[in-house]
Amino acid sequence: MSSRIYLDNAATSWPKPEAVYQAVDDFQRNLGAAAGRGAYASAQTSDRLVTNLRAGIRRLFEAPDETDVVFMQNGTDALNLCLFGLLQPGDHVITSVAEHNSVIRPLARLANERDVSVTYLSCESDGILLPATVAGAIQPNTRLIAITHASNVTGAVQPIHDIATLARDNGALTLVDAAQTAGHIPISLSRMPIDMLATSGHKGLWGPFGTGVVCLAAGLAEKIHPSRLGGTGVRSESVEPPPSGPERFETGNLNMAGLAGLAAAVAQLLESGTQHQERMQQPQRVGLVAFDLDGYDCHEVASILDSAFQIEVRAGLHCAPQMHAALCSRGTTRASWSSFTKDGEILRLAEALQQIANARSASQK
Ligand SMILES: Cc1ncc(COP(=O)(O)O)c(C=O)c1O
Repeated sequence: MSSRIYLDNAATSWPKPEAVYQAVDDFQRNLGAAAGRGAYASAQTSDRLVTNLRAGIRRLFEAPDETDVVFMQNGTDALNLCLFGLLQPGDHVITSVAEHNSVIRPLARLANERDVSVTYLSCESDGILLPATVAGAIQPNTRLIAITHASNVTGAVQPIHDIATLARDNGALTLVDAAQTAGHIPISLSRMPIDMLATSGHKGLWGPFGTGVVCLAAGLAEKIHPSRLGGTGVRSESVEPPPSGPERFETGNLNMAGLAGLAAAVAQLLESGTQHQERMQQPQRVGLVAFDLDGYDCHEVASILDSAFQIEVRAGLHCAPQMHAALCSRGTTRASWSSFTKDGEILRLAEALQQIANARSASQK
């Protein structure tokens, strides 16, 4: 296992900082109490853990103090909450072909069952969605612009500041899917008019699986219907969920061990700040490359990389079928790195690919 080269960080980051493993272990072993439900000292320690993590997420995304930070199970759960919770019959949504299925599938369901209309916009050949293209698609009933901050196929980073400004100027809301950028690229909710930011906790934020985050602009929580109903630890006398605040959506016990790990991760991200981000951010691209190797199926390449070189990459459509269709591709092999990836590991990938390509061209002679 020691020679394993993990290059699937766009799916989930690994390894995590040591402090994350320690925090999960410490929570499970020594604290173990639910948050938001008990008055005893250890339950209050769990409460503080959640409160401090909300504050840490606000700092990380430079969010105004009033921003609601909601903890969900993953990026998909976070996006589902925003889309199903907000959109109503007759609403129009603008999105792009670069979206992940966690946006495409909820929107397809909403189109079928709730009479929501959806416009999918094409990107330019460099993967960028132009604000002018978005402007041309705005209709009087456009309620939402839902856009991925960076594609998990092309790595292209979208001009979300300009797109969100356009939305605001036209009375629409903006939902940003930051699954591929949170932790990698600075995001400022104070400087960008983003209404909803949804992301995974287990990718660039370095948290464990089972963690996702939604940041909601002040006053928006009341307008979003919770996707799950049940115990929240507050206002238990009512049959209705709490009218506002994160507890409106955090139904049932939180994944406290996951959040303990995420809290340690966020503390480290805040400490390393731009230094870590500069290493990951290249002009308008995040740290991934999806490619085709001549004469090979994308799964075959991934399988050879694993079995012959112990290099772990992902193959297929990466849950982004429309992006592949736009690229006339039936699937790609994707390598994605993190700030823990060593330069030598990327070189090893390049050498391995060269050998795989050479082997095929030699066998074809
Ligand atoms: C762009 C994008 N959005 C959403 C998701 C879904 O995130 P999660 O795996 O946390 O549900 C992913 C995961 O790969 C993604 O790449």
